[in-house]
Amino acid sequence: MNHLLGLKCVSCATEYQPGTIDYTCPKCGPLLGTLDVVYDYKAVARELTKDALSRNSKPDHWRYRPILPIAKEEHIQRLAVGWTPIYASPGLASDWNFKSLWIKDDGRNPTASFKDRASSVAIVKALEKGAKVVTTASTGNAASSWSAFTALAGLETFIFVPEKAPKAKLAQLLLYGAKVIQVQGTYDEAFDLCCQAAEKWGWYNRNTAINPYLGEGKKTGALEICEQLHWQIPDYVFVAVGDGCILQGTWKGFKEFYEIGFIDKLPKIVGVQAEGAAPLYKAWKAGLRQCEPLVAETVADSIAVGLPRDQIKALRAVRESEGQFVTVSDSQILQAISVLAEKVGVFAEPAGATALAGLRKLAEAGSCHESETALVMVTGNGLKDIDGAMKAVQQKPVLVENSLEDVAAKMKI
Ligand SMILES: Cc1ncc(COP(=O)(O)O)c(C=O)c1O
Ligand SMILES: [Zn+2]
Repeated sequence: MNHLLGLKCVSCATEYQPGTIDYTCPKCGPLLGTLDVVYDYKAVARELTKDALSRNSKPDHWRYRPILPIAKEEHIQRLAVGWTPIYASPGLASDWNFKSLWIKDDGRNPTASFKDRASSVAIVKALEKGAKVVTTASTGNAASSWSAFTALAGLETFIFVPEKAPKAKLAQLLLYGAKVIQVQGTYDEAFDLCCQAAEKWGWYNRNTAINPYLGEGKKTGALEICEQLHWQIPDYVFVAVGDGCILQGTWKGFKEFYEIGFIDKLPKIVGVQAEGAAPLYKAWKAGLRQCEPLVAETVADSIAVGLPRDQIKALRAVRESEGQFVTVSDSQILQAISVLAEKVGVFAEPAGATALAGLRKLAEAGSCHESETALVMVTGNGLKDIDGAMKAVQQKPVLVENSLEDVAAKMKI
């Protein structure tokens, strides 16, 4: 039993019954016609109570099942997704003048990125539909996550990645048994090719934003923040942004817990983009509802997106939350990788550290107040992109002979 009421187009507000539509509103098209997933919140509130949550000792995101679009338990795959740790960092809070600062390490998910939240829900929807062949395009993390879940479910999987996807992500894909198509081009081009293939051959399509259920998985990050911080909501939540799906899902999660009365305050959502891949920042700044596409270039491969597919919801989320978009340079991203490692002990890939770079930029510009609190979402583990990590490294290992004398001499001990 779930409490899903239907799907509603973000542009023309047409409502669709669950099961009658899989992807986007046919009247508005794939970019403007993304669908909001709507629940019967009164029914949700009867089943999902704070009491029930406090009695639930299962440390994964299925604790929020009454507010997820899942009809039957049988399609849930057994990987443990969510309930990732939140670390308080009093050191960084004091460096950057916050009352409290928290880091949520979503690189701790089964395939080492936030994307497992989305894949775990999408696989259920694919199986509910009876899919046998599935696909996605991805900068790498969504694909490696999807491939793990589809391998468990025994589905044939075609993955479209840009030629430049980091090796570790490719290794994951190949080991999970996906058929990997490396497209000579950008992620944006791989996305379009994947959608054409899905349509032509009838494959189930997990692509970001096209598939309305991904944001439902992604919102569980926000639900966990509420519960793990004992219902005290940070003033700001910082997330890295490519297509904008993590951002919009995060905002939806907070709004839904507000709607059912679990929290009495909403955070400002700050979307952080790389300077060379900032179409959402530009649209937000110009007061537009849509982005101008561009050719993206950044060290943070996971957010190298020139045409954000979840742009309508992402712009709406930042505006509704009275947050903002901010851009950071590649060197600020690399510095943030070092800061996270040294000050918090969290090893992040470039996109995973981007949100912290954004917080630092705003804090150093004096945009936040010392009485305020913030949470930074780290979306991907550093082992995903060793070449990226090495760019953040300042020192080299010291080669020594196998003797203590040489250690003493070279290390100046
Ligand atoms: C590590 C990481 N961070 C952030 C993002 C951005 O997510 P979205 O495309 O939903 O904005 C991605 C997307 O691939 C990612 O892999
Ligand atoms: Zn529509």
